[in-house]
Formats: sequence, C-alpha cells, structure tokens
Amino acid sequence: MLDNPIYKIIGGEADRMGVKAYAVGGVVRDYFLQRPCTDIDVVCVGSGIELAKASAKAAGSAKVSVYQNFGTAAFGYKHDGIDWQIEFVGARKESYRRESRKPIVEDGTLEDDQQRRDFTINAMAFSLNEETFGELLDPFGGIRDLNEGLLRTPLDPDVTFSDDPLRMMRAIRFASQLGFRIEEKTFEAIGRNKERIEIVSKERIATELNKIIMSPRPSVGLKLLELSGLLKLIFPELSKLKGIETVSGRGHKDNFYHTMEVMDHVAEKSDNLWLRWAALLHDIGKPYTKRYDERIGWTFHGHEAKGSHMVKRIFKSLHLPLNGKERYVEKLVMLHMRPIILSEDIVTDSAVRRLLFEAGDDIDDLMTLCEADITSKNEVKVKRFMDNFATVRRKLVELEEKDRIRNFQPPVGGEEIMRIFGIPPCHEIGIIKERIKDAILDGKIPNDREEALKMMYEIAAEIGLKPVSN
Ligand code: CTP
Repeated sequence: MLDNPIYKIIGGEADRMGVKAYAVGGVVRDYFLQRPCTDIDVVCVGSGIELAKASAKAAGSAKVSVYQNFGTAAFGYKHDGIDWQIEFVGARKESYRRESRKPIVEDGTLEDDQQRRDFTINAMAFSLNEETFGELLDPFGGIRDLNEGLLRTPLDPDVTFSDDPLRMMRAIRFASQLGFRIEEKTFEAIGRNKERIEIVSKERIATELNKIIMSPRPSVGLKLLELSGLLKLIFPELSKLKGIETVSGRGHKDNFYHTMEVMDHVAEKSDNLWLRWAALLHDIGKPYTKRYDERIGWTFHGHEAKGSHMVKRIFKSLHLPLNGKERYVEKLVMLHMRPIILSEDIVTDSAVRRLLFEAGDDIDDLMTLCEADITSKNEVKVKRFMDNFATVRRKLVELEEKDRIRNFQPPVGGEEIMRIFGIPPCHEIGIIKERIKDAILDGKIPNDREEALKMMYEIAAEIGLKPVSN
C-alpha cells in the first residue's frame, strides 16, 4: 500500500515542518482487507492545511481545496493511472467525521483522534514520517477485530453513537458490506440510541441505505436494521411488511422476509442499484391491499398498482434523487406480476407482445425481478415456474426479432391523421391510433406502415371520416 510515492512525499514534508503525519481510517482498513481504495485520509498532529499545501507543492499537484473553517484541505494526485484523493486534517480531540459542518479544534494527539472515530477497524493509522515510516498504530485492537470480522467502537458505544448517530447505520452497513458481526454490546447500544437517528440528515441516511442495498447480500443489513429498531424510524413502509396475520387458522407469508429473499436473489444477478430498489419495493403495497376471503384465503389484489403509486412518495421521503430512476422503479413494481401471470397460462404471442410493449427496454430487468420473486420451497413448483419463464423469454426474443415491439413507435402518427382527414385534435384520433396499436400487438396486422395506413382508412370509413382531397 505504501508503494504510492505520495506517502513518502507527505512524510518528507511533515519532517521538514517538524510535525507528525499518519494515513488513517478507511485506507488502512482496506489495505488489510485487500479492498481497492483511492481516498487517503491523512491526520497531522499540527496544521492539516499547511501540510496539505506543502505536500501538494512537492507532489506537483496544482490545486489544493482548503476548507479553512473546518481545518481540512484536499488535493488530487495521479499515480499508476489512478486518481487518488488525499484529504488532510489536524488531529482533534472531538469526534471525527468527514461531513461534519462543525469547525474543528486542532489540539489533539493521534490517540485522541483515533478514539473519536467510529469503529476499531477504522481507527488504525500508518506513520508517514521517515523515521517510523510504515509503522502501524492500532491502540484499540483493530487488527484483531479485522481478523475476527468484528465491528466494535473504540469508546463506550453510547459515546461513539451520540457523537454521530449515523454511525449506528454505518455499523450495519459495514456488517452487510464486509460480512462482519456487530459486537453484542455495540448492537445493544444501537437499540438504546436508535431514536437519535432523527437528527441525521436524510441524505446521509440514504447513502448508507444504498450501500447496504449494494452489498453482496443486502438482506444481512436490512434484517439488522429491522432487528435494531432503526428500520421503523427510517423506512416505516418497509418495516410494515413484517408480520403474519392469521384468520381461521390460515396465515399468509411474511412479506418482509420474502422481500429479503428476493433482494438476495436479485443481488446475485445484478449490480443495478435501481433494480435492487425495485426488488425492495415490489411488494410494498401489500399491507394496504390485504384481504381475507373465506373461500380463497389471503389476497393482495392490486398490490402492484398500489405499490407503484407509493414509489415516488417513498423516494421523496428518503431524499433519493428524482431524476427518472423513480419512474423505472414504478414501472417494474407495476409490471412485476405480469410475467408470472402470463407463464401460468398458455403463453400467447399477443400477451408477450403486450408485455414487451409496456416494459420496453426494461424487459430483461423485469424478467430478472420476476424470477427472483419465486421463493417457494416447493421444488416442483419452482421448476414449473422457471420452465414457463424460459418459454416467455424465448418468445420475447422471437417476437422482438419479428415485430420490433420493444421500442414500439406507432406507424401512423396523430399529426398525419389530422392532415389526411382535415380534422382538428379530437377523440377520434385516439381511437384510430389505439385500434391500430391493438391490432399490431394482437398480431392481426404486422408492425408496418403500409398495413397500418390501410387499417387507418378502414376505421375512418367506419366512423364516418373522409380524407380531404388534394
Ligand atoms: N469516520 C467516523 N465517523 C463517521 C464517518 C467517518 O469516525 N461518521 C471516520 C472513520 O475513521 C472512517 C474515516 O472517517 O474510516 C473515513 O470516513 P469515510 O470516508 O466516510 O468512510 P470509509 O471508512 O473510508 O468507508 P467508505 O469509503 O466505504 O465509506
């Protein structure tokens, strides 16, 4: 790790200035975990800003960004074709976190600084001064905890979490990302301090939530959020999926645990954050559409439409970006039952064309979600569904090749209809377009212009429209 020449450059400048400098936090942890990391945090026992300026100059990096109020400074450095980001801060007595808006006081020793960090595995430092170059400073047993896969706070967890309550989510995020266990005492403290999450900004919470969702098995983190009581506070709709109601001895499946299985299935197949969000929200409408029927038992009719309508509100309340991704998630939630219903029947060309038309370019993601949604323990049933899905997939390819429905554009446009029949915008145009579209999707006419025009004249004659003569 210390091969990067920047470390020696920083150490040399620190020696010249008569201060101590260390690489700390994530970069040290990731070195031992052999994870890629391109952000280097440097702590200086002295002025971080002065050391940053001197180091940038020595490294030939032009631009240093200085955040005078916060006592931090950063610059970029290119090495081995990689852009490294190096951030400097003075050692402090108070709690450390990068995003803190609070100005800091540079009056601490290295150990002061280390003990105010979040977890022992994030509180290790490598010395950069020449005499002690590469020496590891690990006062809280970070290496032991890394080896044991344990997340533990350097100080009493009540203190560490009240310094920055987001750390409760960070604990769960690291557990999910790294497959680590949270020490019992630390986990209990999350339960005790959970309400404090209310003072943390939604953006910071969303960042951690997304990292949990992107972890190899998202269910690990999401279940810990549930178990700690945090989920109810940060994402009540998801927590509402939990539980089983029983009437006349008949219960339904627990939709939270089902959703967890679906999440892990999707995570095995795709790194697309928004597809994973669609998996998380696919059944979100179920608690609101649940009914018990004496004859057929539990039903959730219309949960896909209800859930789809909830997506935007959830995105807003979690401060997730509203830049079109919410529409993708809405669409997948809305359509998530379609392939399965289709595969339960005889798979007709017309139904497959309609599915292709509605899903468009997201058809492959939709199929991935639907396959992940099969969580039955009954192997015969699972096999039947998977075989049927394979048939649907085959037909999708066949029909797309033949009819190009995926990015369907109506072969006759509204403007054209108005011109041909000399009519203003009106209801009839919609009727003509809709009937042509249906005819194509139902395979009654091929998806081509000639046939569509012919049909247009027929429908127009039926409803009493005459072309204007030129
Ligand atoms: N840190 C902290 N408390 C926080 C956030 C960060 O103590 N709430 C400290 C930790 O020592 C952490 C370092 O600041 O290692 C850098 O934080 P950050 O860049 O947010 O996270 P990383 O640990 O590097 O992990 P990742 O890059 O995966 O977010």
